[in-house]
Amino acid sequence: MPVTKASISDHEKIAQIARANKYTTGFTNMMYSGEENYKKGWIGKFVDPTDKIIKGFICLRHAVRKEMTVVYDVGVHPHYRGMGAGRMLIEWAMEASPYGIIQLNVDDTNVDAMKFYRRLGFRKCGVGSWKNGNTYTTFKVTKDRLK
Ligand SMILES: CC(C)(COP(=O)(O)OP(=O)(O)OC[C@H]1O[C@@H](n2cnc3c(N)ncnc32)[C@H](O)[C@@H]1OP(=O)(O)O)[C@@H](O)C(=O)NCCC(=O)NCCS
Repeated sequence: MPVTKASISDHEKIAQIARANKYTTGFTNMMYSGEENYKKGWIGKFVDPTDKIIKGFICLRHAVRKEMTVVYDVGVHPHYRGMGAGRMLIEWAMEASPYGIIQLNVDDTNVDAMKFYRRLGFRKCGVGSWKNGNTYTTFKVTKDRLK
């Protein structure tokens, strides 16, 4: 499996990928990428088996009270999109989920990500707004619906 748990030693490479896209820059906040989050196994990396380069990452949290796995960020380096890495990162998150449910919020201007999530079987389950006033759509998928 090209997706495995990342460790703090991977942080700089993952942060570079996160910074390469405006929708994943929030990852560099310690709340999401602090060492504890790596230790908990909440950050996954996609390593290309051919050249061993980290090309994508995912940041999640298993939310005990909500009984679901919340994905905060998933990002693939712009040069390596459309090769299946994003799908494998979501599949890894589902395998890791004790609940078999993944939920996430997508900025309403991020049309490409919405297409990606819908392609994987996610469905809209709510709407909301970030602190800056921009709006988002909440998407959800269960293990049996992941395509
Ligand atoms: C969204 C993102 C993670 C997808 O990663 P990816 O590696 O390019 O996606 P994959 O190659 O695994 O694609 C999986 C499926 O989704 C489809 N898909 C991906 N992007 C798509 C798009 N923009 N429009 C339509 N379909 C798309 C693919 O065609 C593929 O379908 P298939 O399996 O039937 O061929 C990647 O584009 C990215 O990093 N975007 C910037 C960061 C971002 O916006 N993240 C999400 C918000 S947190």
